[in-house]
Amino acid sequence: MSHAFPRHSVNLIANNIKQELKQSLKHYGRRQYISSAETTPPAPKKSDKVLLKHLLGMKKRKEPISMITCYDTSQAVLADLSAIDTVLVGDSCANVMMGLKNTNQISIDAIIHHTQAVSRGLNRAYLIADMPFGSYLTISDAIKNAARLIGEGGASCVKLEGFMPDAIREISKFIPVCAHLGLLPQTHDCFGTRGRTYKDIKELAKQALILQEAGASMLVLEKVCSETAAYISSLLEIPTIGIGSGPHCDGQVLVWHDMLGLGHPDNITYKFVKQYANIAPDIINAISGYIGDVKDGSFPAPQNSYYLPQHTKEKLNNDQEIWREIAIDDVSTFWERIKYGFNGIDDKRTEIIKSASEIRKRRNEIYSCDDKREIIFIPFLGGLHDGHLSLIKEAKKYEATHQIWCSLFLNPLQFNDINDYLKYPYNMNDDIEKLEALGVDVIFTPEVNDVYPFYDINSNTNNNSLFGAFVDFENISIDCDEGMLMYNIC
Ligand code: KIV
Repeated sequence: MSHAFPRHSVNLIANNIKQELKQSLKHYGRRQYISSAETTPPAPKKSDKVLLKHLLGMKKRKEPISMITCYDTSQAVLADLSAIDTVLVGDSCANVMMGLKNTNQISIDAIIHHTQAVSRGLNRAYLIADMPFGSYLTISDAIKNAARLIGEGGASCVKLEGFMPDAIREISKFIPVCAHLGLLPQTHDCFGTRGRTYKDIKELAKQALILQEAGASMLVLEKVCSETAAYISSLLEIPTIGIGSGPHCDGQVLVWHDMLGLGHPDNITYKFVKQYANIAPDIINAISGYIGDVKDGSFPAPQNSYYLPQHTKEKLNNDQEIWREIAIDDVSTFWERIKYGFNGIDDKRTEIIKSASEIRKRRNEIYSCDDKREIIFIPFLGGLHDGHLSLIKEAKKYEATHQIWCSLFLNPLQFNDINDYLKYPYNMNDDIEKLEALGVDVIFTPEVNDVYPFYDINSNTNNNSLFGAFVDFENISIDCDEGMLMYNIC
């Protein structure tokens, strides 16, 4: 890289500030790893992880360093795929990502949050995180917060604004530091160019050298006149990264939103920004297209949708009304459960019990357990329709204090001709599904001989009148017919 500042002027100013520097340099000492960058490390390959030594080597070889700001994982992935050398999680995040007016409104926690997201997206680039305003007011805060950006955030280096040699000296004992001079948005409210007068140039150069001696590994120069930035870059061993500071810095940084044209279309773009894309109008067009498609129903199209297998679709079409009611009922059951307690809702499943002995056992368990609930029992023949299901819904009103049990039993004794019984079009699984969907606790599906142990299929009779389908209640005794009984049993 050629420096625009004439060599003789560089020497002139350098001699001038030599004396002043002597004292300060003694005070801040000299960082070993900077002066030992004598043997220039090779340039990082596209596949290499970029390290600080590569950046120092690039300075030596006058190979420009590229830097971009990123604030989230998707940006980081794209920046990394573009083979950017360094990524900065700048406190500009406050403006471009969080809609805040000033960069000094962002907290260390927010910067850590964004740094974490960015570090997850990077494989290659060297990651620097900004120390926000207020995070380095004391040396101990500075060390603690820098350590958080590295440890929690995953950054490799921290950047802090201003002439802060003491903080930089202490932090850089443990952590690489990027200094930042020129325009300092955290504390300046005047956004004019810096390093315009001889006095300013001298002051900036002095500060830059002191920060290098204090331990800074890089220096961002913001909105510094081009010749001044060139001059400072020529004085330093560490790379300078310019933003609005001309072409003669050792590297350049731009803010993600500025260079991609992602800000509000009415926002002014600064002279120092070059827009490499103008993405905002494309995004607005894309979103408008999407809105139009949603409004006119053309999105989602069949190719964006998932479909049911044909047989399930037919079943759903046939049972639409039932499903609608079941869905509504499920919601009200859910709220009732919230109101009355879940009572193990997660493992609540309808239990299918097939024998009389089993169901007696289950009943005894229910009555002997601590949170004993009464049982509402509803016997069905089968072939359940809305009328049957309305009984379950009625019973569910009491489910906070009651279990709901049903039986499905196609009773051969109700058929005059046994052949009608045998050919009866009945699918018990359909009924079970409907009852399960309504949250019935137990379905009793006995075999004929469980109900009528002396049943004779040839004569279609029950040969012992002591065993019949009847239920005896205290005070009430009625024949047990399908759907007619909804009382507490036992
Ligand atoms: O916060 C930021 O984006 C910065 C750059 C302007 C260097 O500090």
